[in-house]
Amino acid sequence: MTLVTGCHKSDKKFVIGISQCSEDIWREKQNAEMRMAAYFHDNVELRFAAAFDSDERQVQQIDSLVATGIDLLIVAPNQVATISPAIDRAYDHGLPVIVFERKTSSQKYSAFISADNYEMGRTMGEHIAQQLSGHGRVLEVMGLRGSSPAIDRHKGFTDALSNYPGIQLLSTLQGDWTEESGYEAVKQFLTTSAANVDFVFAQNDRMAMGARRAMKETLTTLPRFCGIDGLPGKDGGIQLVQDSILDATYIYPTHGDQLLQTAVNILEGKPYEKETHLMSALVTSDNARVLQMQSDEIVRQSDYLDQLHSKASNYLQQLNYQRIIALLAFTMVALLLLVAVIIYWSARQRNRIANERRQMERAQLDFYTQAAHELRTPLTLIEGPLAQLAETPDIQQAEKKTTELFAIVRRNTQQLTALIGKILDQQVKDSAPDLDAEETAIVPDTPEKTDDSPASQGTDGEKEFLLLIVDDNPDIRTYLTTILSPHYRVILAQDGQQGLEVARREVPDLIVSDVMMPVMNGLEFCQHVKADLITSHIPVILLTARALSKHQVEGYKSGADAYITKPFSPEVLTARIDNLLRSRQVLKDLWQIHAPAQQETAAVSVDDPFLARFRSVIEERMTDSDLSVEDIATDMALSRVQLYRKIKTLTGESPVEQLRKARLVRARQLLATTEKTISEVAYEVGFSAPSYFTKCFRDEFGINPSDVKSK
Ligand code: FRU
Repeated sequence: MTLVTGCHKSDKKFVIGISQCSEDIWREKQNAEMRMAAYFHDNVELRFAAAFDSDERQVQQIDSLVATGIDLLIVAPNQVATISPAIDRAYDHGLPVIVFERKTSSQKYSAFISADNYEMGRTMGEHIAQQLSGHGRVLEVMGLRGSSPAIDRHKGFTDALSNYPGIQLLSTLQGDWTEESGYEAVKQFLTTSAANVDFVFAQNDRMAMGARRAMKETLTTLPRFCGIDGLPGKDGGIQLVQDSILDATYIYPTHGDQLLQTAVNILEGKPYEKETHLMSALVTSDNARVLQMQSDEIVRQSDYLDQLHSKASNYLQQLNYQRIIALLAFTMVALLLLVAVIIYWSARQRNRIANERRQMERAQLDFYTQAAHELRTPLTLIEGPLAQLAETPDIQQAEKKTTELFAIVRRNTQQLTALIGKILDQQVKDSAPDLDAEETAIVPDTPEKTDDSPASQGTDGEKEFLLLIVDDNPDIRTYLTTILSPHYRVILAQDGQQGLEVARREVPDLIVSDVMMPVMNGLEFCQHVKADLITSHIPVILLTARALSKHQVEGYKSGADAYITKPFSPEVLTARIDNLLRSRQVLKDLWQIHAPAQQETAAVSVDDPFLARFRSVIEERMTDSDLSVEDIATDMALSRVQLYRKIKTLTGESPVEQLRKARLVRARQLLATTEKTISEVAYEVGFSAPSYFTKCFRDEFGINPSDVKSK
C-alpha cells in the first residue's frame, strides 16, 4: 500500500472546514488562494460551504461541517450576533476555530484575522473631505446591518467627517453588500430627496456601482463614487478607479494563503498569532495603474503556479499508475517464478522417484538373474548325470525296485527343474516389465540335428577336434567334460582371462563358455577371442543361466556363434557343437590356381588378414629350401602350434602342405612362362632334389613338369 500512496508523507489528513457567509468574487478569490496554499500541504483537505448571506443557512452549515468530523473551522460570520452560537458550539466541541474578516460577539475562537475596517472607513472619510476641500454633500451606503465591517467602516467614516464641519452627511442608506442593494437604496433616496450629492461613499465597490447605476438613471450630472474591496482584474475596483468610474477604493485584503497557513500551524501545534491585522492601502487615480499591473502579475504567477500544480499532480498520478502496474507485474513475475519452481521441483521429484524405481527394478533383475544362475547350475548337475546314469547297465539291469526308485528321482528332478524355471522366469518377467517386454519363457533348445555319430569322431576313432571349456564352476567343468570327452579332446579354463590364454596357445576348434564368471566374464572373453587374429575364427558357444532375450542379444553382440541356456540338454549341446564344426568351411585354393569366385567361401576369404600375411611370408622365402614351418611361425610372431592349428582350420591342410603347394604352383607358373629348365625351376622354388620335385608335382597336378614345359 505504501507503494501506491507513497507520495504522501503521512496517511493522516487534516480536514479544514471553511464557512463563508457569502458567495461573490471577493470570496472566490479568497477560496482560490486557500486552495492554492493547500497544494503545499499534502496532509490537508479543504471543505467549503457558502451561506449566500443567510444567517440560518450559515448556522446549519457550520453544524454539519462539525458533524462530518472536520479538524478545524474557518469562519466569516454573516452577522456578529447571529452566528456566534454556532461558532461557540464548534469551539466547545474541541475544534480550533479561526474567525476571519468579520467579528463574532464571543471570544470563543483560536485566532482572528482581519484588516482594520474602522481605519478603512476613516481613510475614506478623510479622502472625500480632502477631495471636496472641506465643503460638500456626502451620501453613505452601508453594508449588511449587524455585520462587523459595516459597523466599523461607518464608525471610522463618520469620525473622520466630524473633523470637517463644511461636509454634510446627507444620509446613511442601508445595503447588504450586494450591487442590487446599493442600487435599490439610492433609487429610494432619490425619490425622497432633491438635494445635490457631491460624493457617494459605498462600503464596498459592488454597492458603489449599484448606486452609480441608480443615479445615472435619474441625474444628468453624476457625483463621484468611492468604494472598498479594490479587487484586481477586469471589472475589479482597481480597474474602475483607473477608468475613473470610481474616484477611489480601498484594497480589502483576502489573504487566503495566510489564513490556511495559520490553520496548518494550529493543527500541527506550531506557534501562531491570535490576532492578525492585515495591512492595506487606498487606491486612487494616482496609484491605480501600478497596482493593477502588480495584481495582473500576481494573477499571472498564480495561474502559472496552478498549471504547475496540475502538471505535478498529473505526473504523480501517472507515477502512481506506473507503481501499480510495476507492483502487478512484479507480483505476476513472482507468481510465475513460483509456479516454475513448483513445476521444476515436482518434475525433479518425479524423476528421482522414477530413477529409484528403475534402480530397484534393475537390482531385482540382477538378483533374479543371479538366483537363476545359482539354482540352475546345480540342477543341471543333478539332472544331467542322472540322465547319463539311466543309460548305464548298472541301472538298466538293476532290480525292479531300484529302477522304480531311480525313475521317481528322475521324474521329480525334472519336475523341480521345470518348477524352478517357471518361478524364476515369472519373477524375472515381473520385475522388469518395461525392460524386457518381449521376454518369453525359456524353451529348451531343440536339437537342430540329432546324429548319433558326431563329426568329431574320425573314422579311425581318433578324436579330431579340440574343445575349450571355460566355466568357473568345477562341477560344470567336470560334467561338461563327461558329456563331451567321448567325442572331442577337451581342455579347460576357469575364467575368461585364463580361457583367452589357453585359446591363444592351443587354438581350439571350438569354445564352450559360461557368461557369469569372475575376473573376465564370458561376453568380454568372447569379444577378445573374436578380435584376436589367432583365435578370431574359433566358434564360441555361450552356455548360461541368463535366459532373457536381452541377455541373448548381448551374447550375440559380443560375437558368440550360439547361445544355450541352462539347464541344457547334453544332446542339444553336442548337436550344436557338431553342427558348428561341420558347417565350418575351409579355403581350398589359397594360391589361386582356380578362379577366386569359384573357390572363395563366405566363411574364409583369401583376403583374411591372417592368411594374407601367411602367403606373403611364404612367397618371399620359398626359394630357401631350408625354410621350415618354425621359420614361418617366427616371422608371423606365432608358435608352431598356433600356426598349425589356425592354417589347418582355415584351409584344411597343414602349413607344410601349404608351403609345398605354394612352391609347386609357383613352379608350374615358371615352367609355363619362362625358358628355365625343370631343375632350375625346382631349385628356384626351394626343392633341393629335382626328382622329389617331379614326384610332388605329379601328385599335386596329376601331370609331369615336362608336360607343362613342352606346351
Ligand atoms: C464580500 C464582501 C465585501 C466586503 C466584505 C465585508 O462578501 O461583501 O465586498 O468588503 O464582504 O465583509
